[in-house]
Order: sequence, then C-alpha cells, then structure tokens
Amino acid sequence: MKLTPTPQGLAVEGVPLADIAARFGTPCYVYSEAELVSTYEGYRDAFAGHDPLICYAVKANSNLSVLQTFAKLGAGCDIVSAGELARALAAGVPAERIVFSGVAKTADEMRMALQAGIHCFNVESEAELHRLNAVAAELDLRAPISLRVNPDVDANTHPYISTGLKDNKFGIDHQDAPRIFGVAAGLPHLRVIGIDCHIGSQLTGLSPFVDALDRLLELVDQLGAGGIVLEHIDMGGGLGIRYTDEVPPAVADYAAAILARLAGRSLRLVLEPGRSLVGNAGLLLTRIEYLKPGESKHFAIVDAGMNDLMRPALYQAYHDIVAVRQGTAAAQEYDVVGPVCESSDFLGKSRRLAVEAGDLLAVLSAGAYGMTMSSNYNTRPRAAEVMVGGDGVRLIRKRETLDELLANERALLK
Ligand code: LLP
Repeated sequence: MKLTPTPQGLAVEGVPLADIAARFGTPCYVYSEAELVSTYEGYRDAFAGHDPLICYAVKANSNLSVLQTFAKLGAGCDIVSAGELARALAAGVPAERIVFSGVAKTADEMRMALQAGIHCFNVESEAELHRLNAVAAELDLRAPISLRVNPDVDANTHPYISTGLKDNKFGIDHQDAPRIFGVAAGLPHLRVIGIDCHIGSQLTGLSPFVDALDRLLELVDQLGAGGIVLEHIDMGGGLGIRYTDEVPPAVADYAAAILARLAGRSLRLVLEPGRSLVGNAGLLLTRIEYLKPGESKHFAIVDAGMNDLMRPALYQAYHDIVAVRQGTAAAQEYDVVGPVCESSDFLGKSRRLAVEAGDLLAVLSAGAYGMTMSSNYNTRPRAAEVMVGGDGVRLIRKRETLDELLANERALLK
C-alpha cells in the first residue's frame, strides 16, 4: 500500500489518514482499492493464456466490498463455511467459480453449496465423501469433488499456519490417496473432477509449491492410468507477502514454475490465494491513548488491541508500525500495546517512534487475517472498515455499537 507524505501526515491514494480517523474514528481498517485490483491483476496476468480459476480465499478478508472488487475482475472464491458461501454469493461471485474447502463441512453446509451449484467440494476425508454422497443423493444431484491430498512437504512457515505435513489434521495422506480416489469414483452421487492441496500460508520460497505440485502430478498420472481422469489441479493458497524484510517470490516466477510443470497436460489450474491479494492492501489505523514511560520499557498504549489484530499475539507476527504525522517529540523505543487485559496484547515490540499521546499510528500489512480474525473480547466493538478508491472514501463496514454487542443475549433475572 503506497503511503505518501502530505502536510496533514501520511495519505492513502491522496486521502490523509488523519481525515479518515476524524471521519470514521479509530481503530479503523483502511483498504486501498487500487492495490486490491493490482494484486489480483498480477495473478491474472502472470497466468494469462492459461485460464486459471483464481478463487480468492475469503477467510483472508471477507468484507463484501473486498469480495465485490475481486468479483468484478472475474475472481472466484475459496470458502470454508456457509457464512463465507453467503458472503461470496451476496457479493455476486458466480457459484460455478466457488470451491469449498474445510475439514468439517456439515450436511447443511453441503446442502446449501449443492443447491447453489458450486464448482467443487475440496473433500478432506473418507468420511466426508460418504456424507457428501448421501446429501447429494437426497437432492438427486451429483457433487463435483476434488480430494485434498497432503503432500507431506515442509512449507518452512510458522507451525500454526503450516498445513501440509503428515501430522496436520488437513487433507488425506498421500499414500492413501489412490485408494480414497477409488472410493470416491465408486460413489454414485459424486463426480471426481480434481485434486487439491494447501501446504501452508506465508510461504516465501517457491520450492515447497513445486515439490507439492510434483507429488500431486505423480498421483494424477497414477490415477489416470487407473481410469480416473482429472479435470483440474488446485494448488491451494498463494504466495507470502513482505511484512518486514521477507522477499517472497514474484508472482511471475511462481506462475512460470507451475506452468512449466503443467505444460502438455490438459489440467485446468485452480488457485486459492488470500494473503497476497489483500495483505498489503490494508492497514489498521489506531490512536495513542497514553504514553507510559517505564524503567526498562516505554509503552505506547493504543486504542486497537489483540481483539482487532490478533496476529502478533497468536503468531508473534511482525507488522510495521508508522507514525501518521512526523511530530516534534523525541524518538523513543516503545512497545505498542492495546487496551486488552492480557500481556499478549501487543501490536509491536521495541518500535522506535517519535510520538505523543493523541497521535495516530498505522499498523501496516493488516489487510489479510486482520478484521476476519477480530473478536469482541473485553466486549470491544469491532472496528470500522473503510475503502479508499475511485469513488473516494467509503465506509464499507460500520463500527459495531454497544447495543449490537448485547443484542443476542438475554438477562436471566428481570
Ligand atoms: N486455501 C486453503 C485451503 C487455506 O486453508 C488457506 C489459508 C488459503 C487457501 C489461503 O492461503 P494464503 O494465500 O492466504 O496463504 N491466520 C493466519 C493464516 C491462516 C491461513 C489458513 N489457510 C495468519 O494470520 O497468518
């Protein structure tokens, strides 16, 4: 996301962050429409001529306006729940461009997705195959399926977001895949169309993707020889992004590596990128409530907490934090912490900032897994979301109110 200096401090696409804070309050997620468009076009252009199905992973950022931005560009969606299905459809994503991932799909979720007519169910276990077959039978339909195979490659990422190793709960074992594909092919209400994998997120090297693809292609050939001919191969999530000094591969190199291996095959490629489409298109805008000097540490206590952006607390993730306006205060090292009553409630540690109480900070690279992982912990209303784009600044999700937070509860005593 390009931030430019202006007399009123940093601006997104010419709009000062200070104006956004004054208009919509803080904490507030701010997204750049131009950046969303350009990351999507980056994937589309890198694979141009190969007609891949790019299914944006809704879990990264599920705001309807974000989904609409991608839908207008022709994207599909990768969903993991009935809720995400409802969002994708509400945003105008055609059902035939939706793939449904997840280890615990309920019969109701399967029914909804079958009735909508989605492109494919990414099935994760043998038990799920039988449930899906039964639900499709009830509706007198055939469910298009892919099997998620666990290629057992190490993605070299944080253990909490690594998913392609043998002892993860995801997917089916590589060894067992031919047998389970056979089971699927024998079920009358399923139609086997693909194979998929997802080895982890925030991958900053190409080789895990390539290793996974090679393993899947071996299976494709083995299955083909046995009469199970697949139409597509789904490589799961996309590239990692730069939070600080990571150097993720260029999307063109990623595309070249994949396309070289698919040359001469009639397999359609499906991709499910999330983070790389939205991560650097968003920031979290927050205001410093207090500065609290200490003996060994100074704290900048801000109005956004781990309930707004959970990644630092959960994964020790690093997000750059910058002062929106260059003030006259002396630079100091601060732990930037939130209002939540937990010691893990920090947004950044040991950050050099020249700030005063009341100043605004921008927590960068917060467009992916920021708002979607937020909660109401400490009964804090979830933040507002704002999109800056061709139509100016639009509120795309209003801040929750306290009434809304209490609305679903009933007091036992009257
Ligand atoms: N497809 C599947 C089946 C997935 O499980 C995921 C992410 C994606 C696609 C998208 O992957 P991406 O392109 O974003 O790497 N909350 C964590 C990330 C969890 C990712 C879970 N699965 C974080 O904040 O880093």
